[in-house]
Amino acid sequence: MAASSEDPDQQKAAQALADELSLPFLPTPTADTDLLLLQTTDHIELRDLRDPRLGPIWVDFSRFDLRPHGPSLSRRQPLARAFGKKVRTIVDATTGLAQDALRLALMGFQVTAIERSPVVAALARDGLHRFESERGITLGSRLALRAGDARALLPALARPDAIFLDPMFPARRKRSAAVRKEMRVLRDLVGEDRDAVELLGIARAVARERVVVKRADDAPPLAPSPNHSITGKLVRYDVYLAPST
Ligand SMILES: C[S@@+](CC[C@H](N)C(=O)[O-])C[C@H]1O[C@@H](n2cnc3c(N)ncnc32)[C@H](O)[C@@H]1O
Repeated sequence: MAASSEDPDQQKAAQALADELSLPFLPTPTADTDLLLLQTTDHIELRDLRDPRLGPIWVDFSRFDLRPHGPSLSRRQPLARAFGKKVRTIVDATTGLAQDALRLALMGFQVTAIERSPVVAALARDGLHRFESERGITLGSRLALRAGDARALLPALARPDAIFLDPMFPARRKRSAAVRKEMRVLRDLVGEDRDAVELLGIARAVARERVVVKRADDAPPLAPSPNHSITGKLVRYDVYLAPST
């Protein structure tokens, strides 16, 4: 963890985040590390210093399309349709950089977002804070972000109507060039979520109404026999209904 300049405020913010995340604090950025978390003037970003072609990863919602019927927030698109009409509360148990969590919150669901990588959670939190201040929107209880492992946290939460899972897709050689750079760096940081099947089992025991699992369009379901699936452009949403629904 480092700051991008010697500005005392930036240095202080970087030191505080390093303490919070238990990362070593570097008084100046150095190339002597693979991944570097950097406090810049207005955001925090992750840099992969092993590959100069990769730009920094940071969460930027400044161009987020807020139109209710636009491509991000329309309730007619697959992500919204996968949750059906009865769901009000959702736990996003694999929040990552919070792109889906923010969409769900702004669609009107009440979202608790859980992310187990403290660095990824910090990037998401930073992006969400800037979204709120830049766009003059208070997310409040519509989106609560928690750092921790959903396998441990889910059973202790008030039972949500639905749980959303988007575990890291396994790297596919054929398509690896098309995988967004953020996803490649993220995968390096957090690994391949090999415990996703276990997480799905826990989610199915906790969700009142359904579990929705986002998969690559050509990947097999995470567990056999989803009740139904909604297919988007490159992804598929597999829906597992709770036994009583
Ligand atoms: C593919 S990313 C999710 C991307 C996300 N849907 C978005 O819109 O940005 C998967 C994330 O799930 C997180 N994750 C996987 N298993 C988890 C668990 N058991 N608890 C919390 N987070 C988990 C990983 O650390 C990773 O950041």
